[in-house]
Formats: sequence, C-alpha cells, structure tokens
Amino acid sequence: MPSTKADRLVVVGQGYAGLPVAIRAVAVGFDVIGYDVDGAKIKALSSGESPVEDVSNSAVMKALRSGRYEATDDPSRVRDYDFAVIDVPTPLRDGVPDLRHVVDAATVLGRALSPGATVILESTTYPGTTEDLVAGLLEEGSGLAAGKDFHLGYSPERIDPGNPEWTFSNTPKIVSGIDEKSLLAVRNFFDRLVSQTVPVSGTREAELAKLLENTFRHVNIALVNELAMFADAMEIDIWEAIDAASSKPFGYLRFTPGPGVGGHCLPIDPSYLSWEVRRSLGKPFRFVELANDINASMPDYVVTRLTRALNRESRPVNGARVLLLGLAYKRNTGDVRESPGMAIARRLQSLGAAVVVADPHVAPSATTLAMVDLAADELKLADAVVLVTDHDAFDYDLVSSHARYILDTRKRMQGRKVETL
Ligand SMILES: NC(=O)c1ccc[n+]([C@@H]2O[C@H](COP(=O)([O-])OP(=O)(O)OC[C@H]3O[C@@H](n4cnc5c(N)ncnc54)[C@H](O)[C@@H]3O)[C@@H](O)[C@H]2O)c1
Repeated sequence: MPSTKADRLVVVGQGYAGLPVAIRAVAVGFDVIGYDVDGAKIKALSSGESPVEDVSNSAVMKALRSGRYEATDDPSRVRDYDFAVIDVPTPLRDGVPDLRHVVDAATVLGRALSPGATVILESTTYPGTTEDLVAGLLEEGSGLAAGKDFHLGYSPERIDPGNPEWTFSNTPKIVSGIDEKSLLAVRNFFDRLVSQTVPVSGTREAELAKLLENTFRHVNIALVNELAMFADAMEIDIWEAIDAASSKPFGYLRFTPGPGVGGHCLPIDPSYLSWEVRRSLGKPFRFVELANDINASMPDYVVTRLTRALNRESRPVNGARVLLLGLAYKRNTGDVRESPGMAIARRLQSLGAAVVVADPHVAPSATTLAMVDLAADELKLADAVVLVTDHDAFDYDLVSSHARYILDTRKRMQGRKVETL
C-alpha cells in the first residue's frame, strides 16, 4: 500500500538526468510524479520501458508497481509537491543559451507551488540562472517569495551515462541554496538520495562548478586532439606518449584523442560559460573558444586521415563504401546527440562515399543513415572501417579478421590493418 505520509516529489524532465533521480527517489520512499512533455516517452515509461540505458526496464517496472511513481505529460498532475527537481534540456540556439525549457518548467512548477516546498534546478546552465531567472518565474506563478515562503537551490547533475561504477547514488552531489534555509532543505533532500552531498555557499558557485568540470574536460580533450594531429605529422606515436605521461602519479590526468566530442555536455555547456563571461565582462573566454574549434574540427580530421589511407590504395573516397562502427558519441550508450559519428558520416557522404553504420546501442529510428549488423559480409564489402565508438559489444576479432583497413579513432584495436588517430 502506498504510504500517505511519503513526501511528494515532481521531477520535470524524464531523460538521462531526470529519470535516475525519479527512480532513486521512489526507491527511498518518495511519491514521485515524473513529468515530461514528450508523450511518446511517457507512454513508454508508463508501460515499463526505460528510454535511458542506465535505468533498466525492471527498475521502471518496479517503480510503477510500487504505486509511488507516475509518468505523465499532463501538467495538471504537477501539484501538491514538497520537492521539485528540474531536469530539462539547456541547449544552444545560434550559439546562445536557450533556456526556454527551463522557463516552461519553472512556469508549470510556479503555478502549483505551495508554501514550504523546495525547488531544485539540476539542468546545466550559466551562473545566475537560479537566482535571476527561476526564482522570479516561481514567484510570479505562485505569488510566494523565494527564500521566505519556499526554498530554492541548484544542484548540478553529474550523471555519467554508461558508467557502471559511478552512478547517481554514489557520486558526490554538489548542493546549494539561495539562502541558508534553502541550502539546508536541498541538502536534506539529496542526503536521502545519494551517499554524499557537497554543500557550497551559493547557487552561482554550484552553477559555475558544473561548468568548470565540463570545460576542464573539453579543454583537455582539445589539447590531446591537437597534439594527436601534430604527432601524426611528426611521425610520433601519441598514444605511447600519453601512456608514458600517465605513469606520473601526480600533476597529470590522462585524456585521449578521439573523433570529436558529443552529447549534451561538452559541445554545449562550455559555451554557456563563455557566453556569460562575454555578456557580463565583455571578454572572450579563449580556452573555451579554442577548445570548441579544435574539437569541432576532429570529424574533418578523421575524414582526411581516411582519405589519405584510401589514396594509398589508389581509391577515391567518391564511390568507396565505408562502414562506421559506432554512431553514439559515447561508449556503451545509444546517445547520438551532437555525435561526431554523424558529422563524419555526413562529410563522407558529401564526398560521394556510401556510408553504412553498425551500432547495436542505437535504434535505427534515431538516424536516417543506413544501419547494418556487424557481420563478416559487411566487413568484407567495406573498403574501409572507421571505429568511431568503441562499444564493448563489438566483436573486435571479427573486425580484425574480415576488414580490409581499419581507422581506429579510440586505440581499441591492434594489428597490421589498423591505423590509429
Ligand atoms: N545526459 C547527461 O549525461 C547529463 C549529465 C549532466 C547534466 N545534464 C544536464 O541535464 C539537463 C537535462 O539533460 P538530459 O540529458 O537529461 O536531456 P534529455 O533530453 O535526455 O531529457 C530531458 C527531457 O526533458 C523533457 N522536457 C523538455 N522540456 C520540458 C518541459 N518544459 N517540461 C517537461 N519536460 C520537458 C524532454 O522531453 C526530455 O525528455 C541538461 O541541462 C543537461 O546539460 C545531462
């Protein structure tokens, strides 16, 4: 029997970030409304189907069966909540932060806000969003005062899709509030969900911390990507150099080159920071702009390397059949958002190549590219294979046995037919 005393939580957005929060909250005893505007996603969730790899179908089914989880696209179900968490997308539009989903989410929550409730923004965004945008929308919708009548805070989502070791519940969670009481409320909430909370004194610091984490990765990946291009031209093995440097037990962190960055975080979040720096200080954030340039150029570099390899065999790209292994931006996930694999495929197609893709994690409906199963016939048919995403599910021995040439952008394979970035 569902408990009548359970705290009521609304999670706005049931995607990669929001669904794990909702399912974990059900597990620790909350009554949870998972609200999302995507009707198809809600339909799938309501029948026990998870749209997110890290949350299993059985976990969704268990939550539904508990009677304490409801997935809905009906905004009128967003009401009487004690806590609300916002996990909606924060994309760029024409290079500028597009907060319309956050605005919509805060508007729906504002209408239903009761005194004493706590609202937490988790979406990644520029410093100032919680206090300057979300607070006002909630106040406007409710007629209540932030801090005085309700609690408000920011807690960045750190979910790492496909990472079995660090999950939502065992990854330390930064928590913040617009005042002491809000911080306490946000901290108490997440202390029930995760093993460790890390309080910071203000929402701006928490918002900046998330952008720092992602910008740090973006810049370091750009550094090794640029170095990989130079090392190839200088005929130095970048991978051996990286392995050697990684033996240093302090002052060095290992990053590896790749075909470019993808997903919701690296291609987008650092630009939220550079936009805010330019807006408030009138200065360019040069590290971010440089990293954007280098990482965005990697798909082109992959195509250049492939062109060079085909050229050695007196084959033009035009008319060549290229098999891309992996389309998702990240290993062992099916997320194709901003995927460099898509950019590589489009570039090859524009040069006249016939591109086919094998990715067991990506649903054929997620792309207009021709999807095939990884099989000996497909490997033999291809003039070249490009390993874009090194999923564990690929049979690398099969690839080695039957492919004519392999451009490995992840250093996953070895052998005489394999060339690395
Ligand atoms: N995916 C990650 O690995 C990750 C990690 C850390 C932080 N984040 C951040 O979390 C936020 C959400 O990202 P995500 O990956 O979960 O995106 P997602 O696309 O997987 O999920 C977002 C969901 O929000 C829904 N939505 C959009 N507008 C809505 C509205 N007004 N009301 C209700 N639902 C709405 C969408 O339909 C979608 O299902 C972003 O700010 C992202 O940067 C994501």
